Amino acid sequence: VLHVLDVSPPAAPPYPVLAGDDAAAAIVSRWDARWRLAVVIGDETTSPRFGAPIAAALEAAGTPALCLAFPAGEGHKTRASKEALEDAMLAAGVDRQCCVVAVGGGVPLDVAGYVAATYLRGVPHLNVATTLLAQVDAAIGGKTGVNTPAGKNLIGALHHPRAVLLDMAALAMLPATELKNGLAESVKHAVLADAAHFADLEAWARAREGLRPADAVIARSVAIKAAVVAADDRDGGRRDILNYGHTVAHAVEHATQHAIAHGHAVAIGMVVEARVAAAAGTFPEADLARLIALLTALELPTAPPCPFEAVEPYLARDKKAERGAIRCAIPRCIGDTPAEPDGRYTRVVQPEALRSAWR
Ligand SMILES: NC(=O)c1ccc[n+]([C@@H]2O[C@H](COP(=O)([O-])OP(=O)(O)OC[C@H]3O[C@@H](n4cnc5c(N)ncnc54)[C@H](O)[C@@H]3O)[C@@H](O)[C@H]2O)c1
Repeated sequence: VLHVLDVSPPAAPPYPVLAGDDAAAAIVSRWDARWRLAVVIGDETTSPRFGAPIAAALEAAGTPALCLAFPAGEGHKTRASKEALEDAMLAAGVDRQCCVVAVGGGVPLDVAGYVAATYLRGVPHLNVATTLLAQVDAAIGGKTGVNTPAGKNLIGALHHPRAVLLDMAALAMLPATELKNGLAESVKHAVLADAAHFADLEAWARAREGLRPADAVIARSVAIKAAVVAADDRDGGRRDILNYGHTVAHAVEHATQHAIAHGHAVAIGMVVEARVAAAAGTFPEADLARLIALLTALELPTAPPCPFEAVEPYLARDKKAERGAIRCAIPRCIGDTPAEPDGRYTRVVQPEALRSAWR
């Protein structure tokens, strides 16, 4: 197992991010003897494929394991899924001497993490990330939660995992669409905070044979996310920069009823939001062209899939919106996202500016 780095949140104990091909062995070797029971939670794809071997290895090493699963997909990242998991844990008599092992992409990690955050007022959890998106983003930083019909991630808690394991073997089974979803977040990290990472992604995209990035590219993206979270793990501060592209992305996902996958929507959102800034003279046109070229080379979309009128109602319902004003986090150029003049990391964007960037 490779030790990638430690995440050091401002108000929670530091935790390691590990990467390896044998997730079960890695979990067993890091198991804390105080955790008498493992509650292994995945979706109906990741639970049998990646959760069951972990549970079996833990049991072989003397720790009983309860395996729970809920249906896969963003549509099941709900309070109903959380409740069903909790009821199963209560029925099984799970007490505080347990550890939740969340296994899968961002959906099961967010749901299982939220279960861990509130079960008996909080039990520890580990994140085993099996999608690229979860590896470079969702597994790190402690945000957990569920969607409601009113919007994405509106209910949740900040609850950092005790450790994060990047299951590198799982990536071999990941469909191309899911790889692209993760690549979009990796591009986002580069645009936000690391021009050298952006150049590396450009070089890799030119020479690539498939869509699975090199391990070093994944590690760099993990490091960027970990650095942002270490500075500030709550919304409203510098962590807000991670929302670049997401004001538009969430509205696109809503308007298309999730026909556009999250990372694809983020790609579109990054282009539209950068174009808004370019029109305002706060983002270089040349960087906008590089961004579009890189996303295109990664087979990601760069143009909105629907008319502006379709997303407009959702933009002001974003979590960052204040008193109906749309807010976006937008870098100043590739690699740098300083605070806005008022010290915040999001700015008000007029609907008209978004409308004219919508082409
Ligand atoms: N907590 C955070 O900080 C954070 C950050 C970014 C995104 N997210 C959340 O993450 C979610 C998206 O995550 P995602 O893209 O990983 O989606 P996901 O968890 O739904 O996974 C996508 C699909 O891939 C399947 N899958 C998972 N691993 C696989 C593998 N190795 N091989 C084959 N199939 C596999 C899943 O069953 C699912 O059908 C969103 O809900 C988003 O809000 C959270």
